[in-house]
Amino acid sequence: MAQNTIKIAPSILAADFARLGEQVAEAEQAGADRIHVDVMDGHFVPNISLGAPIIKSLRQVTRLPLETHLMISDPDFFFDEFVEAGSDSFLVHWEGNNNLHRTVQRVKSLGKQVGVVINPATPASVLEEILSELDLVLVMTVNPGFGHQHFIHTTLPKIKRVRQMIEQRRPECELELDGGIDAATVRLGVEAGADVLVAGTSIFGGNESVDAAMKRLRAAINDAVNKVSSLASSNPEGIASSSPGLRETSYSGLEDRASLNPEGVPSRH
Ligand code: DX5
Ligand code: ZN
Repeated sequence: MAQNTIKIAPSILAADFARLGEQVAEAEQAGADRIHVDVMDGHFVPNISLGAPIIKSLRQVTRLPLETHLMISDPDFFFDEFVEAGSDSFLVHWEGNNNLHRTVQRVKSLGKQVGVVINPATPASVLEEILSELDLVLVMTVNPGFGHQHFIHTTLPKIKRVRQMIEQRRPECELELDGGIDAATVRLGVEAGADVLVAGTSIFGGNESVDAAMKRLRAAINDAVNKVSSLASSNPEGIASSSPGLRETSYSGLEDRASLNPEGVPSRH
């Protein structure tokens, strides 16, 4: 695992919308790999966010791929609008979609990349029959709908299972995590096998600059990658993330944070 192979996808949900173009440009300069755009309709999730006009504006200010996370009912009705606005890829939820295969084929027919998202309570097994069609799997590490929630630790075994499924059936598929990712939790994600980490609050929501926040996150990722690599080389028989010793270390130290908000309910607003 080379250090820069883990990608960072800043989520603009936590950005200052009055300075959106500026903040996205700053994230791009600081080494962001793609921009994650959360679309919410107040029905699929209990929050309303933004739509295609924002994608259209962002398309003018960044060359980065615009990844569109659709937390909406009936996503099929909206693909044309988002493609026209400039979306490069779509993340569609398994939950609430009775015709997921059709939705996935529709995105592919538009020439765009497609990923399927599963919520914290949804098992990895639902991916079995669709994985071979996908460019991406996104495992939610919070319940969708809000930024600034706590990483749900009980998703970790599932993330490792998804990693194994990808290795066995579709190695080119990326594994992305979304929710509660910061300099402390990246290590858990990296150990569990993530390729892409979405981060909103930890990049746009603090007092430091976007540049400083990106650097801090990248440094934490590099540390985690180094730890996993050295463990893997001292334990060549098994994958690093399944080492009981490492697993113990992973959970300890973050328990306080988890117990503050074990359900992963919104912690702000
Ligand atoms: C939650 C969204 C996330 C959110 C992540 O429904 O899908 O992309 O912006 O925000 P943080 O990083 O603040 O948890
Ligand atoms: Zn998202």
